[in-house]
Amino acid sequence: MIRFGIIGLGKIAGRFADDLKLHPEATLQAVASRTTKKARSFAAQHDATTSYGSYDALFKDAQVDVVYIATPNHLHYQNCMEALEAGKHVICEKPFALDAAQVRKMINKAKSKKLFLMEALWTRFIPATEKVLELIDQGTIGKTVSVRADFGFPASQDPNGRLFNKSLGGGSLLDIGIYPLYLSYLLLGKPEAIDAEATMHYTGVDSHCHIELAYSDGQTAILESTFLETTPTEAIIEGS
Ligand SMILES: NC(=O)c1ccc[n+]([C@@H]2O[C@H](COP(=O)([O-])OP(=O)(O)OC[C@H]3O[C@@H](n4cnc5c(N)ncnc54)[C@H](OP(=O)(O)O)[C@@H]3O)[C@@H](O)[C@H]2O)c1
Repeated sequence: MIRFGIIGLGKIAGRFADDLKLHPEATLQAVASRTTKKARSFAAQHDATTSYGSYDALFKDAQVDVVYIATPNHLHYQNCMEALEAGKHVICEKPFALDAAQVRKMINKAKSKKLFLMEALWTRFIPATEKVLELIDQGTIGKTVSVRADFGFPASQDPNGRLFNKSLGGGSLLDIGIYPLYLSYLLLGKPEAIDAEATMHYTGVDSHCHIELAYSDGQTAILESTFLETTPTEAIIEGS
């Protein structure tokens, strides 16, 4: 049995705790919030064995094997480093961190401690992605030549909410742009050239981001994320 601990008991933590119950080899050992009352109530609702009023207390719990980090974006780096330092395996919500330099340090720490570390990017594991990989593997569309993908919805423009607040790691790229971006990396690998432009909100984060990726053998990806309007939120993968 793998014993999970969850820190940051917001919306996605609740979804994760619900789904954990479906797995026969996983159990919710402990949960931690910044407040004891919230941790107790979440633990009761999701049948967690232990609850803590600080993240640090959960990191110190010897009964926890893996920590699932569900805090806002700007805390991922710090929370991951602390959990790894405490000897825990880590699954961290997307985006993994705020930039590549932070992610490199996280990976180095996990390697040095011989611990498992993974970004919790749910679309990597959904049946549709598994099917796409299977079809591409079988050569059904030939060689993949391009990816066009988008993710967009009109977000509430609350300057204090995590989507538009720069200090919480907001912005369309970090919140939803990573989904189309991850898909092109999964199917086409690392691009040779990246061209991107953004519409900036007054809070200092991007409300819209358009990305074009070019690959050495002519493959391309055109990607978009936006908080300004509803877009089809689909991916079109073209093959030879
Ligand atoms: N995989 C997905 O589909 C998906 C979907 C939505 C979000 N996410 C990711 O999951 C993370 C959390 O998103 P969410 O929608 O669950 O957010 P949320 O409802 O705001 O929950 C975040 C939790 O983090 C904790 N926290 C610690 N410091 C905080 C601060 N300064 N401000 C606000 N909260 C703070 C709080 O828990 P305590 O009070 O218990 O400490 C809060 O409830 C984000 O990184 C987001 O990108 C992933």
